[in-house]
Parts: sequence; structure tokens; C-alpha cells
Amino acid sequence: MITSILLIIVAYLLGSVSSAIIVCRLMGLPDPRTQGSNNPGATNVLRFGGKKAAAITLLGDSLKGLVPMLAGHLLGLDPLALAGVGLAAFIGHLYPVFFGFKGGKGVATALGVQFGLYWPVGLCVAAVWLFVAKVLKISSLSGLISMALAPLFVWLFWDEKPLIGMQLIITGLLIWRHRSNIRNLLEGTEGRISASD
Ligand code: G3P
Repeated sequence: MITSILLIIVAYLLGSVSSAIIVCRLMGLPDPRTQGSNNPGATNVLRFGGKKAAAITLLGDSLKGLVPMLAGHLLGLDPLALAGVGLAAFIGHLYPVFFGFKGGKGVATALGVQFGLYWPVGLCVAAVWLFVAKVLKISSLSGLISMALAPLFVWLFWDEKPLIGMQLIITGLLIWRHRSNIRNLLEGTEGRISASD
């Protein structure tokens, strides 16, 4: 019980570390919260910071979800505690204690949680993301479609109510965080994936 609570706290704190803001600071790039979509995430870093900065951001944000979940498995946490860990990492990214509770939209961190839960779940979500991105070249739509399908993948591979519930909450919050993207998509003004280099 204590182990689960400690890991949930650590997962939230780790999730609160914004890879986009740190990577941009270290690479001498502008603050992602003041550029493009103002979102501290890999897609936005790609717009003004280039492929390398975006790739590091993507990796960092994914690891924030992956590492606590793997730790949860190693420590033998039950499905309910594991769901708490995944949710804590994701919420940390969305509402980071270190950055005034204003974080990102959660796609990369959710993907890390899914890979950490059970790699085939992550692989299915990543495959859907890549397929939609290849065809439509819109990052937000790729994230929305792949995460809308994620509860189905969790159900197929790991039929445990707490974990399906975790994924449903993650998907719900992620859709909520993409409100402005959904508005743009409906108006036909959502930008396509683009890199500055
Ligand atoms: O993963 C973030 C993406 O879904 C949307 O980012 O910057 O286009 O709002 P952005």
C-alpha cells in the first residue's frame, strides 16, 4: 500500500517535468508556451525548434509514462495501483506542479503509459497514430483517433476494469485538452505536421 502511494507520488512528480520546456531551454530555443500553438509538446517544438529538439521532447515525455509503469510491474503492483500510477504520470504532464499546473496535451506521455502497461497496447496505439499521421499529416487528429481507440486495445490485451478505467479517463482528459484543436479541425484550419528544419 505504502509502495503504491509512493510510486503514485513519484509518477506525478516525474510527469510534472516538462520535457519541451527543459529541452528548449537547454538548446537555446524559445519557450514553447510562447510559440506556435503555445503547447509544451513535441509537435509544437517541431514547428519552431526542428526535428532533433522534437524527437528529444517526444522521448522525454514518453519516458515519463513508461518508467513509472515499468517500476509498478517490477514492484508487483495490482491493477488498481498500476492504474493510479499511469493516471498520476499523465495528470502530472497535463497539470505540472513545477510549471504552474499548465502543461501539455498528453499524447506522448499516454503512449509511454500504454507501452509500460503492456507493449502490444502501445504498439497498436503508435501504429494507429503513425497511419493517420502518414495519411492526413495532422498531429492532433492522429492523437485523438489513436487515443479514442486506446481503451479498446487495453480491453483486448489486458482486460482489467481499473486499467480500462484508467485509459478511459486518460482518453477523456486528452480530448478535453485538445478542445482548440477540435475547433480548428471542424473549421478546417488545423495545421499540418511541419518542421522548421
Ligand atoms: O501531441 C500534441 C498534439 O496533439 C497537438 O499539438 O501543438 O498542434 O496543438 P499542437
